[in-house]
Amino acid sequence: MSVNDITGKELSMRVFITGASGHVGSALVPELLHNGHQVLGLARSDESAKRLTGWGAEVVRGDLHDLDRLRAAAAAADGVVHLAFRHDAMQAGDLAGAAESDLAALRAIGDTLAGTGKPLVSTSGTAMLADVARGRVATEEDFEPAGGYRVDAENYVVELAAKDIRSSALRLPPITHSRLDQHGFAPTLIGFARRHGFAAYVGDGTNKWSAVHTLDAARLYRLALESAPAGSRLHAVQDEGIEFRTIAEAIGRELGLPTRSVSADEAPQYLGFLAHFAAMDVPTSAARTSELLGWQPTHPDLLADLAAGFYFTEPAVG
Ligand SMILES: NC(=O)c1ccc[n+]([C@@H]2O[C@H](COP(=O)([O-])OP(=O)(O)OC[C@H]3O[C@@H](n4cnc5c(N)ncnc54)[C@H](OP(=O)(O)O)[C@@H]3O)[C@@H](O)[C@H]2O)c1
Repeated sequence: MSVNDITGKELSMRVFITGASGHVGSALVPELLHNGHQVLGLARSDESAKRLTGWGAEVVRGDLHDLDRLRAAAAAADGVVHLAFRHDAMQAGDLAGAAESDLAALRAIGDTLAGTGKPLVSTSGTAMLADVARGRVATEEDFEPAGGYRVDAENYVVELAAKDIRSSALRLPPITHSRLDQHGFAPTLIGFARRHGFAAYVGDGTNKWSAVHTLDAARLYRLALESAPAGSRLHAVQDEGIEFRTIAEAIGRELGLPTRSVSADEAPQYLGFLAHFAAMDVPTSAARTSELLGWQPTHPDLLADLAAGFYFTEPAVG
């Protein structure tokens, strides 16, 4: 499907994507190209540039910190998808620095697109809803007013609607899974289980995580780019809420390892930088997103992907 104008004529977009070489990008670039769009992807290394050209995308060489480069690429595009995130900094404990770079990049893109009516789809996470929707299923209408993990960036993007940008913020669940996933939270949990000889969960493990297949998430990014109303908050969620203990049990089963509860104090030892996330309870609905954009997940759910075995054929990072 592609975008049509009021006369029904097909419109294809030239889309600038940051983070195009990453896990979600590896699904989104082909999704856009197969649907008639052109892709201009940011690449900070020869290796990333090679991946992009291999998929048929054009390359803009540069780092997320090269704000002039981001401005120029955004100006040359019909729409922007922002996926890049400094996960290296986040994993080294500098979440604040990573979040700051994220917001700075979005401000550079937002300043450039202001007044153009062009679409900007940014990325955030359902994890930010843990407090605001405590004790119930989180929806697209929930948001944190200020502060917190990626909250300011999401609110900034939503407010860009007032500057004539067709902006939307797409929230990914903690686990976005598929054969394309090399270093997301699923392979990271598998890596920790391998390292410690058991799959850990925190407390009684009844806290819930949501999940989505990468290919379904990529389709939602495309739909958002093509037609999300300005200022939308969207949820790429297939599994509304799986108990964390069930995820740990699935990992333990596939690895032939036991599953064990750890206390909140022990969690950093066994779950590393994921300790805080592992204790989160964030069941999340995508009902409004489905209604708004006609998005329905069609790919395997998390437990099916874990049972398919491909996550366990190679030692995972952790
Ligand atoms: N996957 C999930 O389960 C999940 C869940 C919630 C939220 N998210 C968010 O979704 C977005 C995409 O995630 P992903 O799984 O695709 O991440 P990923 O596989 O780690 O890819 C990150 C992308 O960002 C690029 N990048 C990182 N630092 C950069 C820098 N300093 N300059 C330029 N590019 C840089 C990487 O480039 P290189 O290829 O050169 O490294 C890569 O293209 C991120 O914002 C992530 O936080 C993901």
